[in-house]
Amino acid sequence: MGLKNPKEIYDHAIKNDYALGAFNTFSLETALAVMDAAEEMRSPAIIQVSMGARKFVKNLDVYVEMLRRLADKYEVPFFIQHDHCPTVEACKEAIEAGCQSVMFDGSHLPYEDNVEQTKEIVEYAHKRNIWVEAELGCLPGFEDFVFAEKAVYTNPQKAKEFIALTGCDALAVAVGTSHGGVRGDDYLPLDLELMKKIAAEKPGYPFVLHGAASLPPELITACNEQGGKVEYLRNCSEESIAAAVKAGAKKVNMDVDNFLVYTTEVRKFLNEKPSIYDPRKYLKPAEEAFQREVMHKMLKVLGSSGQY
Ligand code: 13P
Repeated sequence: MGLKNPKEIYDHAIKNDYALGAFNTFSLETALAVMDAAEEMRSPAIIQVSMGARKFVKNLDVYVEMLRRLADKYEVPFFIQHDHCPTVEACKEAIEAGCQSVMFDGSHLPYEDNVEQTKEIVEYAHKRNIWVEAELGCLPGFEDFVFAEKAVYTNPQKAKEFIALTGCDALAVAVGTSHGGVRGDDYLPLDLELMKKIAAEKPGYPFVLHGAASLPPELITACNEQGGKVEYLRNCSEESIAAAVKAGAKKVNMDVDNFLVYTTEVRKFLNEKPSIYDPRKYLKPAEEAFQREVMHKMLKVLGSSGQY
């Protein structure tokens, strides 16, 4: 099946009441992990690239071309989205490089500037048949190189107004999740009532949850048992993210859990077989762990497994 139009993939998710998983990739191995997971679960997936990945791969256009060619090998549908572009210019570059959808993140801007710049990129993108995700409200934590300390929850009426003013195709909202977790003793509370109120303002519209990996403490422990020193940060639980999907979130971004299991597997392999230095030997089990984690999210959090 290969790449499909974002609208077609979203329409299917909305009609069948599940969420699309969006997973950041930065290499052949991580792209294979997500695509193999999707194929095995008969699930659609959004293949994402971030500003960090853009730097890592050096040539975004070459990387996106590789994703496009890879997608043709699979039976389930995908689309390619550039995550968190901080400027209109970065969005335009992502479009030139072949992304089918771009996220403009103006969430840190004053409301009027966020509207104005989102509108500018929507006009540019729609002429080229490209989808635009925007953001209203603010998540705490790190996103690439930008750190926000406090959450600013999304106001439901403002969300509706923002969509009308900008024409954005999907909107990321803040209802309790965080990027990469924050310090705390327990899972963060997710405001399901707010999620429902936001969804009720525009039924059938694709609202998006960012920062939706859960950082289960047992994943951190597994990494630290292999010599890691990962801090026990907290985020929303998988059960609460699954409930947010039922409450109206139709795209869910989850990365850090995948990155954590990938690193754990590399550490484990190198601890157990210190004489081996062929990277193919330790990158393959790491890729398989990443794939298993994505499959787990499709089955337990998104409800997207078995949909294709
Ligand atoms: P996590 O930080 O929870 O992995 O979320 C990823 C994300 O929102 C990317 O945009």
